[in-house]
Amino acid sequence: MISSRVPLLIFCALHAAGAAAEDGYQLWLRYVPVDAAAHVRYAAQATGIVAFGRSPVVAAAMAELNTGLAGMLGTAPVATSAVADGSIVLGTPTSSPQVAERAEALGLAAAGPEGFVLQSTRWEGHAVTLIAANSDVGVLYGVFRYLAIMQRHESLASLDIHEAPRLKLRVLDHWDNPDRTIERGYAGQSIWDFWRLPAYVDPRYRDYARADASIGINGAVLNNVGASSVYLTPRWIAKVAAIAKVLRPYGIRVYLSVLFNSPLDLGETKTGDPRDPAVIAWWHAKADEIYRAIPDFGGFLVKADSEGQPGPRDYHLTQAQGANMIAGALAPHGGVLMWRAFVYATEDKQDRVRQAYAQFKPLDGQFAANVLVQIKNGPLDFQPREPAHPLFGAMPRTNEMLEVQLTKEYLGFSTHLVYLGALYAEVLRWDTFAHGPGSTVARVIDGSLDGHTLTGMAGVSNVGVDRDWTGSIFGQADWYAFGRLAWNPQADPKDIATDWVRMTFSSNPQVVTSIVAMMMRSREAVVDYMTPLGLAHIMATGHHYGPGPWVDNLKRAEWNPVYYHHAGKDGIGFDRTATGSDALADYAPEVARRLGDPTADDSKFLLWFHHVPWNYRLPSGRTVWDELVYRYDRGVGTVGSMSRAWNSLKPYIDPERFDETAAFLGEQQSEAQWWRDACIAYFQSQSGLPLSPGTAPPEHELAWYEQQVYRYAPGRSQPDPDHGVAH
Ligand code: GCU
Repeated sequence: MISSRVPLLIFCALHAAGAAAEDGYQLWLRYVPVDAAAHVRYAAQATGIVAFGRSPVVAAAMAELNTGLAGMLGTAPVATSAVADGSIVLGTPTSSPQVAERAEALGLAAAGPEGFVLQSTRWEGHAVTLIAANSDVGVLYGVFRYLAIMQRHESLASLDIHEAPRLKLRVLDHWDNPDRTIERGYAGQSIWDFWRLPAYVDPRYRDYARADASIGINGAVLNNVGASSVYLTPRWIAKVAAIAKVLRPYGIRVYLSVLFNSPLDLGETKTGDPRDPAVIAWWHAKADEIYRAIPDFGGFLVKADSEGQPGPRDYHLTQAQGANMIAGALAPHGGVLMWRAFVYATEDKQDRVRQAYAQFKPLDGQFAANVLVQIKNGPLDFQPREPAHPLFGAMPRTNEMLEVQLTKEYLGFSTHLVYLGALYAEVLRWDTFAHGPGSTVARVIDGSLDGHTLTGMAGVSNVGVDRDWTGSIFGQADWYAFGRLAWNPQADPKDIATDWVRMTFSSNPQVVTSIVAMMMRSREAVVDYMTPLGLAHIMATGHHYGPGPWVDNLKRAEWNPVYYHHAGKDGIGFDRTATGSDALADYAPEVARRLGDPTADDSKFLLWFHHVPWNYRLPSGRTVWDELVYRYDRGVGTVGSMSRAWNSLKPYIDPERFDETAAFLGEQQSEAQWWRDACIAYFQSQSGLPLSPGTAPPEHELAWYEQQVYRYAPGRSQPDPDHGVAH
């Protein structure tokens, strides 16, 4: 009698411990005990683990099953070679003749090198759950899916899941510097402790790898695009190799950002000119050296000719000529080069949002086969809302990959709750009309539109050493959503949010429904309280924290907010039609027609493409001036309702995560109000128009907002917090 109670007691104790220690470190892999009813069902379906294959990847899969099942069921089933009812069987055609025999029936061909089949089936006469794949990493992904089903309290009966990633490279870009600062990082220092590497390998790297692998991320660029060439020195290559060793069993390759003129910067050549034989030889020798240390090294990421970085333009060469030289050094090793299209020039007077298109479009077909052109979601710079970048679909003979930002440089840092899954899905669903309707960005980057196989999506990481990794619990959702959308760019951001909430908080329907609703409203809220109606880049100087629509004193025209909104007595907005910069011409005619209609799509791109008088009337019946104020108010109102929704969940959320989120939402509300007040005060100084009756005036005079200085705002590499490099 007593002995039968022991597991229950342990189970309850574990449950209590799990509930108490919610500091966010476990992310969505919390593996908390399931309730008693689910326990009965699940335990019968997890009686033992039969794993074929002995690789480090299989060991990682086994370790995860152990951790997950021990957490959720109280005990982990034993690893055995004897199949029984309830066994979990893991294998590939190479590791198991039985899996090889069944490969066709299972449809393993469609799983490709990284996909998996997760099936309830019979094996040697027993009812089992089979996780089969063509590679061990596919098995690992299947294991994470199996555990997620249990975490979400879904049924493990009659499983027949067939999954394969649609993109080949699913990469996090860490903008981490050698001194552990992180450009645009709001979650503490870099997790990569290069100083202590390779002697000390922080156990955290493994947990990072687990989190990535659980959502299918298979690459990590370890350092900032504003790259230091120190990473290419022998001592640092050994450090990179030590990280690669930890990430490898999780199917993750490491990549490095490199400076275009690295050999010159290191003093090892006299020029960085890509035509110079010494330079070419240097890159080849460097690639050979790296691959000797890291045989599965992924390749390089390059930011060239952009914001002070060297590039082929310094040598009067095209982006393709520059890229191909470095790509040539990687090609013999199977490495790839991700070449960023975030290129704009100091001396170029052309509208900044047209510059990348102007430079890259004519180069279509000229990039080497192992180059991907990495394009930000919009043509400007990770704003709360931008139209999709016109380069998507415009270079059919080029591998195009998408770059999004997980870290919220322009969206309130890590404090504001803004679910970015909605933003990513907006761009992925954007129809480029490159080959008529249905030519979505998702289909451009998954290669199906133009028949490419080298495909990818990159996310600028929001990870740091903060205990919760991302500086807030809700920042974790952006990491999660990025991985899920890179795996399947057609996935629904609401479904992804739902899965995340169930794994992160609870499967209680009330909790799930309210939090998902909050998340899904949050992206429109930030657009409303920061940059409604197509406004952009009106953030304060340098750190991009808070409003600065008045800023007009920066060195380069296109660093100044006034360049973007053109507000004056006569109206507001950037004329990008044929009478202005004609950026509309960079889009397919169907898209240009739609964007050219100021009232289309709820006028969400109105001021991005049009300069209109303040009394221009919108379909809502309001003038642009009144609509602007209305939307600022709506944004503040939505944050208020998010905050109330959260507060009503107090009984269901552990105190640590409840309190942090409640505090952050309070902060977000006052900052939304600050944005609204400062912007209305400024735009009113331009429009000269009164606020409509019943509208609250800004709390302070415009001058007060203009005088606010935020020293030591986080996220900048430059040491000068007050008057640093400004853009
Ligand atoms: C933005 C950001 C920079 C970053 C740059 C880039 O401009 O503010 O910090 O270096 O994007 O993507 O290269």
